[in-house]
Amino acid sequence: MQQYIDLEDIDNVDSLIEKAIVLKNNPFAHKELGKNKTIGMLFFNSSLRTRLSTQKAAQNLGMEVMIMNLNSDSWGLEFEDGTVMDACTAEHIKEAAAVISQYVDIIALRAFPTLSDKAKDEEEQIIKSFQKYASVPVVNMESATAHPLQALTDAITIKEHQTKERPKVVLTWAPHPRALPHAVPNSFAKMMQMIDVDFVITHPEGYELNPKITGDTPIVYNQDEALKNADFVYAKNWSSYNDYGQIKSTDKNWMITLEKIKQAKFMHCLPVRRNMIVADEVLDSNQSLVIQQANNRTYAAQAVLKEILEQRGK
Ligand code: CP
Repeated sequence: MQQYIDLEDIDNVDSLIEKAIVLKNNPFAHKELGKNKTIGMLFFNSSLRTRLSTQKAAQNLGMEVMIMNLNSDSWGLEFEDGTVMDACTAEHIKEAAAVISQYVDIIALRAFPTLSDKAKDEEEQIIKSFQKYASVPVVNMESATAHPLQALTDAITIKEHQTKERPKVVLTWAPHPRALPHAVPNSFAKMMQMIDVDFVITHPEGYELNPKITGDTPIVYNQDEALKNADFVYAKNWSSYNDYGQIKSTDKNWMITLEKIKQAKFMHCLPVRRNMIVADEVLDSNQSLVIQQANNRTYAAQAVLKEILEQRGK
């Protein structure tokens, strides 16, 4: 693996899932691989899981870790080419990415969307600029449209907990008071299309995701209908894609309850708003996999970093 910008960077997803599970059982087996190597973890946005699990993954591989919150700790970065930098930005990405590349062996980056400028968000200007001007591999820790480390984690978690060969997995929209990005549902949908599951998406009308991503996946507007016979229910809020970044509904009837999911396992990427997205009774039950999911963030990141380090060592 040369980089991990999106799920297309995975050569063989089933093999990568297996490798992550092997790492989970023996996390320090490759402590020498990352010796004298450094990962630079750069954040434009907040994080709990991604930050700590990726740091832990790198340390499990023997790497050194540098972390910077770019919005608060560094100079304001300019991403436009040819601009006259007479406003707020003090440093161009061309210099910044080249300089950072001299200090680290892998750059990991988190940069959320604007949710106001669809074209700009879909361009993925920030992560693509780092990719263009850095001379080291770039790992996506959630960009404007994708969260591939989360999606790999989700696939690992389903693999570990599935009790039938082809489980039914339902991605359901759930209410939230704020407008949220599409990165998690986008990457989850793409990942479910890559593994052997019966995958269905349910959401209120007006919350259709990018059709280029949902492709042939069945979309059912009746949540009860979609949840029938589900083995895994993955809840997530997202804002409207067509009326970009808008909140169309906060209909509490879409909140996940035990009555709705019956015997299914519950998944969410976290952080989650209790009794908004999902009822306490679900999160506090043994049907909830959210803590196990968060644990798997480490091994998803470790599998990805290991592949990149091995490729660089060739
Ligand atoms: N799931 C996830 O990415 O969590 P953080 O935003 O806390 O990193």
